[in-house]
Amino acid sequence: KKLAVFVSGGGSNFKKIHEGCLGGSVQGDLVLLVTNKKDCGGADYARSNGIPVLLFPKPKRESSDGLSPTELVDVLREYGVDFVLLAGYLKLIPAELVKAFPKRILNIHPALLPAFGGKGLYGMRVHKAVLASGARYSGPTIHFVDEEYDTGRILAQSAVRVVANDTPEELAKRVLDEEHKLYVEVVAAICEERIKWREDGVPLIQSKD
Ligand code: GRF
Repeated sequence: KKLAVFVSGGGSNFKKIHEGCLGGSVQGDLVLLVTNKKDCGGADYARSNGIPVLLFPKPKRESSDGLSPTELVDVLREYGVDFVLLAGYLKLIPAELVKAFPKRILNIHPALLPAFGGKGLYGMRVHKAVLASGARYSGPTIHFVDEEYDTGRILAQSAVRVVANDTPEELAKRVLDEEHKLYVEVVAAICEERIKWREDGVPLIQSKD
């Protein structure tokens, strides 16, 4: 399956997925990186691994660089992208893209949705909110993307303990390590077409036979 990944920062999830593709644990071909920050770590990694980098959305200040939503949809189709993977991408996905790629856009959020999600809750803010709540567990959620932030159908979650006196950074690291494992597993399942949609609309991962 052809994959496009969207990042805004370091791209650690992107790197793990790419390593999975290179190592054969993921039957995927990473054909495109999309970012809103051309100089971010994920973009640097893509350029040094021969993966084309495209800018979306257009920067606010007038500039020739950057794609419009329509151009983004067109280029994803031109590359024959099967699935779009958001990994630390902080901008809202335009409705045109959601409509063009139904059930084919995934996002990873560093908390157990529906708790601790939504606009404004990203990065360290998520982990601070989890710690402030006294929650005993946190962990990554991988979900299909719809027009809102963090509200699509949940596909996979994994719980990690919240440890007494955790700092946000320590919790973030524990969750991020789990994200790396979970996203590679989920993308492998997606590429092997092991996702089945229950009649009530819930997506389920079938284990390898
Ligand atoms: C991660 O916590 C991810 O869950 C969130 O962005 C953070 C950075 O991810 N969406 P990455 O290192 O850029 O993949």
